[in-house]
Amino acid sequence: MASDAVAIRPIALGDVVALRDCVDAVMRERHYLAYQEAFSIEETKAFVARNMRERNPHWVATHGPRIVGWCDIRRDPIPVQSHCAVLGMGVVDSYRGRGIGERLIRAALEDARVQGFERVELSVYAKNTRAHSLYRKIGFLHEGIRIRGKKLDGEYDDVHMLVYFL
Ligand SMILES: CC(C)(COP(=O)(O)OP(=O)(O)OC[C@H]1O[C@@H](n2cnc3c(N)ncnc32)[C@H](O)[C@@H]1OP(=O)(O)O)[C@@H](O)C(=O)NCCC(=O)NCCS
Repeated sequence: MASDAVAIRPIALGDVVALRDCVDAVMRERHYLAYQEAFSIEETKAFVARNMRERNPHWVATHGPRIVGWCDIRRDPIPVQSHCAVLGMGVVDSYRGRGIGERLIRAALEDARVQGFERVELSVYAKNTRAHSLYRKIGFLHEGIRIRGKKLDGEYDDVHMLVYFL
C-alpha cells in the first residue's frame, strides 16, 4: 500500500462508526491507551460533535472507507486553563511505521495553532517507546513523571507528561 493512498483530513459526523472501530482496535491491544475498549457509538458521536462544535482539532487518516488513525486535541474546559489542550492519538497496528502518525499529529497541531491554543499536553506510558520517539521528533518537552501512574493486570508503568508550546 502506498502511504499516499491514506488521506489525512478533519473528522466529519459521518465518520463516527468508522472512528469507533479504529479506536476500539487500538484500545483492545491494551498497551497504549487508558481504556481497553472504545466508548459506545452514542458516546463517540457526542465526542465528535462536541469537538466539531468547539473547534477542537480532530483529524483522521482514511484508507478507502476505513479510518486507520486519529489525532484529537481537546481544549481544557477550566477557564484559567483554556489556553491548554490535551492530545490523544492512535494508528491501527497494520498501518504503523509509514508516516501516518506523524502526518496526523502535524496536521492537528497546525490546526491547534490556527485555533489559538498555546499549550498541548499529553501523557504517554514509559514502555511506549514508539510514541516517545514520535513526540520527541515533533518537539514535545518532558514535564514530569507520575511514577507507577498506570496499573493494569497488576503491572505498573510510569506515566510521562509531555508538552508542546505553539
Ligand atoms: C505512536 C503512533 C501513533 C505512531 O504512529 P506511526 O504512524 O506508527 O508513526 P510514523 O510512521 O508516522 O513515524 C513517525 C515517528 O515515530 C517514531 N517511530 C515510528 N515507528 C517506530 C518504531 N517502530 N520504533 C521507534 N520509533 C518509531 C519515529 O520517530 C518516526 O520517525 P522516523 O520515521 O523519522 O524515524 C502509533 O505507533 C500508534 O498508534 N501506537 C499505538 C497507540 C499509541 O501509542 N498512541 C499514543 C498514546 S500516547
